Amino acid sequence: MHWWENEFAAVRENRLTLGGVDAAELVKAHGTPVYVYGKPRILSRFGELGDLLAGLTPLEARICYAMKANPHSGILKALRGAGAWIDAVSPNEVRTALAAGFPAGRILFTGTSISAADLREAFGVPGLTVNIDAAEQLELMREVREAGFRRRKIRVSVRWNPGIGRGFNPKAVTAGERSSDGTPIKFGVEESKVTGVFRRAREYGFLPVGLHQHLGSGWVREDYPAVRRAVDRMVRKASELKRLGFRLEFLDFGGGFGPKYFRNQRLFPVADYLRYVCEKVRRAGLDLRAVAFEPGKYLVGDAGALLLGVSYVKESYGNLFACVDAGTFNTVPRPAIYMQAHHEIVNSLEVDAAKKARVTVAGHLCETGDVFGRERLMPLPKKGGLLAVLCAGAYCRSMASNFNLRDIPKEILI
Ligand code: LLP
Repeated sequence: MHWWENEFAAVRENRLTLGGVDAAELVKAHGTPVYVYGKPRILSRFGELGDLLAGLTPLEARICYAMKANPHSGILKALRGAGAWIDAVSPNEVRTALAAGFPAGRILFTGTSISAADLREAFGVPGLTVNIDAAEQLELMREVREAGFRRRKIRVSVRWNPGIGRGFNPKAVTAGERSSDGTPIKFGVEESKVTGVFRRAREYGFLPVGLHQHLGSGWVREDYPAVRRAVDRMVRKASELKRLGFRLEFLDFGGGFGPKYFRNQRLFPVADYLRYVCEKVRRAGLDLRAVAFEPGKYLVGDAGALLLGVSYVKESYGNLFACVDAGTFNTVPRPAIYMQAHHEIVNSLEVDAAKKARVTVAGHLCETGDVFGRERLMPLPKKGGLLAVLCAGAYCRSMASNFNLRDIPKEILI
């Protein structure tokens, strides 16, 4: 068994199957390039988290799908049916979640650099909870509320920045003062301002109901100690708010844990983490109604693949290229954006062979960085062959652009 095989992607007679169907069969019906997603895999990941949490806490456990990872309507509907909540980060995401049938009461809107227009739209959705990203945003919220929503009880929570962040790449660290590459972190309310924001929110007529943090994305085992420290800080902050008379309905610990993207990745201990959070919350006696988490890539990452057709194999200065019928920016932009993003690539018609070659999988865009993988060891694909880029369920279609005026592939959900 290959390290990447799961209930969605598997090998049968040395060929790749997705959701139980031979990749070549899928391509016969749908062509290339095409994204393929597997509903059972997504639902079992969701179910796993729910079962774990049910065994760990008597509180309501809200699993808020971070729909930025993949807002495919079939995926949204499947997760809604399973009982998910939603983490939405733009008015359009809120609208899309509503259209997929999520009640507003199950959506947390976590914007950043939010405009008055964004707020008008959010405040117009009764029952939505608006997560405050800045002390200064609260002033804008007051103006917008006074101008058009005076009588509405608007639920708000505060996204704070606990001073610790973790992510697989400097661009995916979302808390702390600066990221590991020196970029000042724009998210959240700094520690010293949190209680003031709660106080003013109430004064301005909002209904403060929760505290939220999101540390970053793509945690691995090595991140666990830092993540625990951030959990400690969050619970301490919630205790302080309780002492000050703020009765919180929920604490939301954000997302960050994900699937296995590469062979040597030491997995973040998700079950231990959830147990740690639930135990901390229980011991603090916070009188919460719910704990919340916002997984994105954990739910959908390894439940998706992109199938690529090989137009021809090129050799130049000793380098071998599988020249494929799509570009990274239009399909799987993560490796082009984040140096550290790895996607396993599989020769779908001949997964293994005694003889392998070092193949660079070259996209069709006018960018040197437009390669899906560099010098990957695999059986050399042939002209007309088929490659699969794995773990393409999260942040691939959702971050794809029309660069070079190339189309974004269609998606199928099995
Ligand atoms: N909650 C909030 C407020 C977030 O901003 C995010 C992701 C999540 C939850 C979900 O994080 P996850 O469980 O998926 O790690 N585009 C990058 C990831 C950046 C995500 C930023 N926010 C990537 O392709 O890896």
